[in-house]
Amino acid sequence: MSDDLKLNILKKLDAEGSIKDTKDAFSGVASETILGALKSLESQDKVAYSTLSSEVWTLTPEGQDQLDNGSYEAQIYNAVPEGDEGITVDELKAKFGNVANLGQGKGFKNKWIKKNGSSIVRLAASIVDQTKIDLEEVKASGVHSKKDVVKDLKRRNLIKQNKIVSYSVSKGSNFSTELKKQMTDLTVEMLQSGAWKTGELKKFNFDSLGVSPNGGHLHPLMKVREEFRQIFFEMGFEEMPTNDFVESSFWNFDTLFVPQQHPARDLQDTFFLKDPAMAQGLPEFWETVKNVHEKGGYGSIGYRYPWAEAEAKKLVLRTHTTPVSCHVLNKLAQEPYRPAKFFSIDRVYRNEAVDATHLAEFHQVEGVIADKNMSLGSLIAFLDVFFTKMGITNLRFKPTYNPYTEPSMEIFSWHEGFQKWVEIGNSGMFRPEMLRPLGLDKDVKVAGFGLSLERPTMIKYGVDNIRALVGHKVDLSMIESNPACRLDKKMGKEVFESKNVEVEN
Ligand code: PHE
Repeated sequence: MSDDLKLNILKKLDAEGSIKDTKDAFSGVASETILGALKSLESQDKVAYSTLSSEVWTLTPEGQDQLDNGSYEAQIYNAVPEGDEGITVDELKAKFGNVANLGQGKGFKNKWIKKNGSSIVRLAASIVDQTKIDLEEVKASGVHSKKDVVKDLKRRNLIKQNKIVSYSVSKGSNFSTELKKQMTDLTVEMLQSGAWKTGELKKFNFDSLGVSPNGGHLHPLMKVREEFRQIFFEMGFEEMPTNDFVESSFWNFDTLFVPQQHPARDLQDTFFLKDPAMAQGLPEFWETVKNVHEKGGYGSIGYRYPWAEAEAKKLVLRTHTTPVSCHVLNKLAQEPYRPAKFFSIDRVYRNEAVDATHLAEFHQVEGVIADKNMSLGSLIAFLDVFFTKMGITNLRFKPTYNPYTEPSMEIFSWHEGFQKWVEIGNSGMFRPEMLRPLGLDKDVKVAGFGLSLERPTMIKYGVDNIRALVGHKVDLSMIESNPACRLDKKMGKEVFESKNVEVEN
């Protein structure tokens, strides 16, 4: 937009104090152009303005034509020669077409001309083209002093009414006649030179609608996540709410029967929050959890150490999604018994050394099955079906240790490419030391399993460095061009046979 107009507005304001109506002050300038300049000046508080609107009459193309060439009646009158012979109606028609009829009618009425047999002859010695004069007046001022003239011109379709928007302008709180270029963005250069300290930043326009994107692309992780979700839904699972990324150590560790001295609870492994550092309170059953750690119960002798409330209150970025399962199982325990299946897929955080396959944050896929008839055998059978749906058929299980499950099993799959068994997940039967304080009955058995979302995604999409998948080095065109994820049988083979991905845990 031209700065000239903005400057002119400011100068006029400076000279006259205010602008009553921009229509008069800037008569040749389109109202949209003025509005643009005013909006820009207003955003810098240089001016304030209000909108005026008025109705004016303008000429139609036909009206403009009669202003330029004379009214139809005058054109016809001028075409009639003086004397008794006049001109024949046919001749007039041949010369003027439609205009001939219109002009004659009005000419008769004005007593300018009359019929003489098949000819038209002059009646008046001279004429004044009042229509043309009236049109001139409307053209110049947008109005006409005589109401009946306006009515007549409108009826003859020579003028039409238009709404004109204009503005009245006054000085703003930051008024000056100087236009300073405002900064629209903070750049590295401005930060380095210190220019940001003195420069004026353009105000945000929060009413602006923005540019609507004409398309979007799902990140590969989200595509694989969606595939997992569909498998879970297909198998009758409910999705757990995973929107609490910060948990108390109590939920992240203590309810899971992770002793307070466990290395996973060290600063080196877990991100603790600085501010606020502590949870405000603990759930009602905290003493039951304390007792099971200190003295045991439900057939367990416990860990036999003094459990500290302060340790349990420390806030952490959740290190796994199993606390989410704890919350949900705790809620389930408040309801009448029903067999239930839950899943979650979301981010977890670990204080790890970052390398090609590890980041300090990743996604866990977790499933939990609560049923009085649940056993390790049914968990194995379930996992067989679950992984078959992803195209992975050859599973093996290896005993392992988790503080919260017993027995616990690592899940392995045979990797043709590597000619070795690779770990694809972790699982187990939750301990009574975890389930009973959460409120679940003695005879309700709960199985759980977890895997990472990143590994199958990296293999599926042939990404061999996690930093190409997550973080600021991600190539957006990679996200745009990758196909949708289908975890069919072929994919299973492809995923776990790929050689370009390190499948170390
Ligand atoms: N929470 C475990 C992990 O961090 C996964 C798991 C979930 C294991 C449920 C057993 C039961 O790896």
